[in-house]
Amino acid sequence: MSFSKIVVVSASLFLSGCGITANDNVLIGKNRVANWQSKLVIAHRGASGYLPEHTIAAKAMAYAQGADYIEQDLVMTRDGEVVVLHDHHLDTVSNVRDVFPDRARADGRFYVIDFTLSELRQLAVSERFQMDSDHQSAVFEDRFPLGQSSFGISTFAEEIELVHGLNKSTGRSVGIYPEIKSPAFHREEEKDISMAVLEVLREYGYSTMQDKVFLQCFDPFELQRIHDELLPAMNMAVPLVQLLGTGPEFEPLLTEQGLQRVAAYADGIGPSMFLIIKPDSVATGLQGTDLVERAHGLGLIVHPYTFRRDQLPAFVEDFDELLQIYLDDMDVDGVFTDFPDLTVTFLESNL
Ligand code: G3P
Ligand code: CA
Repeated sequence: MSFSKIVVVSASLFLSGCGITANDNVLIGKNRVANWQSKLVIAHRGASGYLPEHTIAAKAMAYAQGADYIEQDLVMTRDGEVVVLHDHHLDTVSNVRDVFPDRARADGRFYVIDFTLSELRQLAVSERFQMDSDHQSAVFEDRFPLGQSSFGISTFAEEIELVHGLNKSTGRSVGIYPEIKSPAFHREEEKDISMAVLEVLREYGYSTMQDKVFLQCFDPFELQRIHDELLPAMNMAVPLVQLLGTGPEFEPLLTEQGLQRVAAYADGIGPSMFLIIKPDSVATGLQGTDLVERAHGLGLIVHPYTFRRDQLPAFVEDFDELLQIYLDDMDVDGVFTDFPDLTVTFLESNL
């Protein structure tokens, strides 16, 4: 989740150029996003509570469950294709060890960037797992079983075509929510992933603030580069979301000055849920932060992650209570969830 140590060192540089204040006359956030709507159900890696993350099946299920936006985490292959995977490693969601046993790097990991798309097509994708010596065990025990059925890796373009096809056949207008993963790593591998992602977006008609897309990234320097350089050079403008984690490298972005700086290039933030309610809260004493209020004061949309029925924080007893706290009490503008159906039902019944 966090960006590299280089970014930690550079964070003060990022802030040193901050000249934006809340009073500056810039069009940001909700004011810039033409199709802004509240409260959004964002399918996190698809309906990943039910089917292996980032598979076409999980995306189709999320669509059918009524998600407003469907998320794509994006990485690149050796031959420059943008594919939909959460990690730039393959070994925790595929059978790459069996198919290409000699292709691990010295650290024992199998990197997407070392494989062509045609090689990735040979892999079977499964639920996320961890290795305990030679044994695989599922990260989420009660989800889709390991090693069952048949799933593969999709390109970003293929996934957009799925959403467009479903929009045509259903008459709905579901959006996409791509995340650029590890831009610094890709740069070291001589790939400009941001440029590649923007080219796919433009090819499929996502190039204005009216289009149903949010582009997200954890790396503030990359998101600022996209805003300041890449989008203007490509004559594009799409809503940008700055992701925020709980690590120390994000602290400079969470100060008043840091958030103002974010508001100069982004339209929203995607914070960990624990930046809004502190994780050591208890049911009888929730410790809320002022992050949502401050972000809204700057015109920033707030879409926290990740809402999972099977991974609840200690301060709630069930999933509906979690949704109630964030969507109603804390007034966030949408949530990333592995369970789009439960979130749609909650919103229809309660808000
Ligand atoms: O992008 C929002 C959320 O998905 C961030 O977490 O690690 O699941 O990409 P991650
Ligand atoms: Ca993501």
